[in-house]
Amino acid sequence: MDLFRKKEITVEQPSYMKKSLKVKDLIMLGIGAIIGTGIFVVTGVASSDMAGPALTISFVLAAIVVGLSGLSFAEFASRVPVLGGPYAYIYVVFGELAAWMTGWFLLCEFLLAVSSVASGWSGYVQGFLNSLGIHLPQALTAGYNAENGTYIDLIAALVVVFVTFWVSQETKKALRLNNLMVYVKFGIIALFVVFGLFFVKPDNWQPFMPFGFSGVFDGAALVFFAFLGFDAVAMAAEEVKNPQKDVPKGIIGAIGIATLLYIVVTLILTGIVPYTELGVKDPVAFAMRFVGHGFVGSVISVGAILTLLTVTISMMYSLARLLYAISKDGLLPKFMQKIDPKHRTPKNATMVAGVIALVFAAAFPLQMLAELTNIVALAYLIMVSLGILKLRKMIGKPKPGEFKMPWVPVLPCISILSCLFLMSRLKPMTWIIFAITLVIGLLIYFLYGYRNSSLNKK
Ligand code: ALA
Repeated sequence: MDLFRKKEITVEQPSYMKKSLKVKDLIMLGIGAIIGTGIFVVTGVASSDMAGPALTISFVLAAIVVGLSGLSFAEFASRVPVLGGPYAYIYVVFGELAAWMTGWFLLCEFLLAVSSVASGWSGYVQGFLNSLGIHLPQALTAGYNAENGTYIDLIAALVVVFVTFWVSQETKKALRLNNLMVYVKFGIIALFVVFGLFFVKPDNWQPFMPFGFSGVFDGAALVFFAFLGFDAVAMAAEEVKNPQKDVPKGIIGAIGIATLLYIVVTLILTGIVPYTELGVKDPVAFAMRFVGHGFVGSVISVGAILTLLTVTISMMYSLARLLYAISKDGLLPKFMQKIDPKHRTPKNATMVAGVIALVFAAAFPLQMLAELTNIVALAYLIMVSLGILKLRKMIGKPKPGEFKMPWVPVLPCISILSCLFLMSRLKPMTWIIFAITLVIGLLIYFLYGYRNSSLNKK
């Protein structure tokens, strides 16, 4: 049994895609996938229950962890000419088993992210409906939590059905919406910041760190979620004009802009509303209602409802493509390779993704989904950092013109340790589900993938 069989580093699949994306497009793509439920929803609970106003520091810590991983990503994207993002990078450096596990974590990340963003979306829709006097029965307002009397998140389930259907039919149209929505996102954030500034009461920032450093670290482990999606930039390498220079700039640019916006929004949010009141499902709109400007709150709600939809669409799109790519390598059943003849989309892969995401979105509460998304994402980012160490051993330092991660091996090691640290702050239940996920991943490989891999046939 050869668990380390590798793909050749020089194997470059011919690409039939148009190479039209530039740095600006990549940053837009990144922002489109990154800014979503994290800032619009998760900030609420993270500040009320974990970090208080010091959530701004949590965001900085999470940004550092993501930024370090972003550098590893950038070096891979610039040096390894294979398509398919981290799954493909690891295939080249560590071989099949590690690549499958990376792909598996990545699949889980996208899947859980779709469910989480759908759940966040549901929060804003419900907030908006409530402001119109329409209330759903309590049991249908969130995932299973018997204490709160909630069982199923109906709206989150419906949005997953809608997005699955749309992505399987109209991918291009759906993605084109992304750029427009990025402007809507900037617009509502700008509205919130400029309007909110007038209502900031510095007293609300006291105490700044009500739960101590421990709360700040827990907050960082949760809001790490807000940065996920930056990998979408690396996945688009195939359609980039000058990938070796532009992909790294796109990744770092998107993370930088998101960090800045997150810090400003969190400062203003916790400056307007005492952190203890922020444990709501739509904190950014809530803050506007809190200061008596319900109309501005509604505008923000509608903007968030539109933009979160595009985050769900882009995550679902990446998920279906990854399922398709892995199935093409033989590690997942063949039926997922089927391309719909009319719409030229991987329809079966999209349907599989949709059904699983639907179950998670309906049944689990948002915080749990976000934690699960984070733990699988952190696990695969560790693989990517380990991958850079191995890549340097295999083919040495980058050549002039290629992106070079600075201070190797020190920075990748710090990156690995910081990912482990954030993982250690997540709840025991998250770890238990993570362990089960790990075992399921290994079982799929040993019972199916190893035997059916296309490398096997060669
Ligand atoms: N980063 C994405 C969000 O915050 C997943 O919605």
